[in-house]
Amino acid sequence: MDYKRNIVITGGAGFIGSHVVRLFVNKYPEYRIINLDKLTYAGNLANLKDIEGRPNYKFVRMDICDFEAFHRLMQEERVDGIIHLAAESHVDRSIKDPFTFARTNVLGTLSLLQAAKLYWESLPEKYEGKRFYHISTDEVYGALAMTHPEGIEPPFSTKASSAHHEAYGEDFFLETTKYNPHSPYSASKASSDHFVRAFHDTYGLPTIVTNCSNNYGPYQFPEKLIPLFINNIRHRKPLPVYGKGENVRDWLYVEDHARAIDLIFHEGKVAETYNIGGFNEWKNIDIIKVVIRTVDRLIGRQEGEDMNLITYVTDRLGHDARYAIDSTKLQRELGWEPSLQFEEGIEKTVKWYLDNQEWMDNVTSGDYQKYYDAMYASLNKE
Ligand code: NAD
Ligand code: TYD
Repeated sequence: MDYKRNIVITGGAGFIGSHVVRLFVNKYPEYRIINLDKLTYAGNLANLKDIEGRPNYKFVRMDICDFEAFHRLMQEERVDGIIHLAAESHVDRSIKDPFTFARTNVLGTLSLLQAAKLYWESLPEKYEGKRFYHISTDEVYGALAMTHPEGIEPPFSTKASSAHHEAYGEDFFLETTKYNPHSPYSASKASSDHFVRAFHDTYGLPTIVTNCSNNYGPYQFPEKLIPLFINNIRHRKPLPVYGKGENVRDWLYVEDHARAIDLIFHEGKVAETYNIGGFNEWKNIDIIKVVIRTVDRLIGRQEGEDMNLITYVTDRLGHDARYAIDSTKLQRELGWEPSLQFEEGIEKTVKWYLDNQEWMDNVTSGDYQKYYDAMYASLNKE
């Protein structure tokens, strides 16, 4: 069958990527969706069990740094759209092993850009109807001052608004905010963003970049704050809070991010940058208390009885104080808005992890990886 579009989604077996793949496969049966993923520790095909047999879905195990293989895939599958999420994504790992982050996030992105350029330039219609959409993070902008401009306490969701932004300007990250990354992770993402824009400015590659705030929701690897803490609370293990727990993050439900990606892929303007966020800032310690109360209530413990698991530990090196995204441009130009209030999103999220203990156990034991490695090793022998 001839599909209307042939789209590669990189990192589709990871947290956000799996939600994007699911949305596209379900919503666009007329598109062929190719999930390209290396299946690192963060990639797990169990995240996509519900759609793996769909006719418009295909999984390819590939390293984005493998330029030759990706260039071949583009030709064979006549790829006309790339949504690029594959990355090393955890700040703590980047502090221990920055080289892996430079390799995947910078060289991997460059390899995709160069392959897309070569293939699309070889076609009679060249870049017409093509898209290279790069998913990035708000962490490239650096860190904002810890306090809210009006001196109010988090959550700030009801206070931060476009009017608020007009009054306070750069107290939120704007699309025009200067890059100032602090961690090896954010430095590698910043570098990849620069390469993407350079490929537009130099060769005319039809690129789009978006920078999103912290995501939460189902299928997030339990090295990140929310799933790690849900699992620890359930097993009554200590909750390691870095520093004083006062750092502020701006949280967005992952399906709202996936909806934004869908909208921007189809309607975003080439060469533009869009910030994505829910105006939903929380101090870590406050969000941790919400998570503890929610887990306790949902598993029938006395609400708040696990507060004693909170354990203050040495701060993360270079720990960014506050992230806060202003997504007014996206709301104004493309009409996107987050659909979930935070209370609803966190309830759904905690419930999902509690209901999917098997997924969590598999991921924390590493069993899912042994399975893929054995499966692919036997395929490679044939
Ligand atoms: P994740 O770590 O859950 O998933 C990353 C995926 O990329 C995994 O499936 C992994 O196997 C794959 N991958 C890693 N290296 C690869 C390589 N060399 N070749 C092919 N595949 C490879 O990450 P996530 O949280 O879903 O983030 C996805 C993207 O969104 C990243 O680019 C990240 O920077 C960005 N982002 C994440 C957040 C967040 O809160 N998680 C917020 C904003 C932006
Ligand atoms: P994380 O989920 O790693 O996302 P990011 O570093 O990309 O924002 O961390 C969210 C916040 O929670 C961050 O300020 C670090 C903090 N944190 C802890 O206090 N303890 C932990 O065990 C983890 C993983 C994070």
